[in-house]
Amino acid sequence: IRVDSPDDVMKKYVTKVKKIPDEECPICYEKLADGSHYTEDTDDIVLKLSKCGHLFHRGCLHAMYSCGPKDGSIQCPTCKTIYGVKHGNQPPGRMDYHIIPPSLQGFPECSTIRIIYDIPPGTQGAEHPNPGKRYSARGFPRHCYLPDNEIGRKILKLLIIAWERRLLFTIGTSATTSESSTVVWNEIHHKTEFGSNVTGHGFPDPNYFDNVLSELASQGVTEDCLKD
Ligand code: APR
Ligand code: ZN
Repeated sequence: IRVDSPDDVMKKYVTKVKKIPDEECPICYEKLADGSHYTEDTDDIVLKLSKCGHLFHRGCLHAMYSCGPKDGSIQCPTCKTIYGVKHGNQPPGRMDYHIIPPSLQGFPECSTIRIIYDIPPGTQGAEHPNPGKRYSARGFPRHCYLPDNEIGRKILKLLIIAWERRLLFTIGTSATTSESSTVVWNEIHHKTEFGSNVTGHGFPDPNYFDNVLSELASQGVTEDCLKD
């Protein structure tokens, strides 16, 4: 984790705004021209993100960065465009995988990749919703499945990158159990059911590969990442 100041980070991703339009900042909903409550600064009060062109109070964008993992990346809160390499706040744990012989529904010609995630309970860090408070971890180790074919192996590689960037899990309230301050899946779906599909988290699911690839892409993990 880098320790660049928000200003150092932001200057790579923003361009100057010559004329401030009569619009609200999407972070605080106050007029852009009136400046941010987060700072008293008077110069460059509005910043424009360079790729997507969305405008924000400088102070609001800085405050948003400071609430996140401070990894040198930012994501436009309006359109989700990612600047830099996005990281998450997944708590510490292990990701392992191996090949098991049985086939998944719909893939009789190949064996199966089983991924095992193991995350123990712990204490929340500064990047979590309640620093210093404990979090629970239910249902670990969690077992997940992919066919051991070309697409399955590609998704595995992308999941490894997402794991390293701490994007696969987060701490929050489980939609399944309603428990708060617990480790939950973070918007990248996995197939956790083997041999049937009672939960909807199993095969067959003809849209699964496209869906998980687009979920990975919306976190900034794409095939381009496999080239470096
Ligand atoms: N398998 C895979 N994904 C799941 C599952 C499951 N059994 N249950 C929910 N999800 C997906 C949801 O579709 C949602 O997108 O995870 C996301 C977060 O849902 P939560 O219920 O908040 O997640 P979490 O509490 O982490 O998981 C619930 O998943 O792997 C199992 O053992 C785990 O029973 C637990 C369940
Ligand atoms: Zn944007």
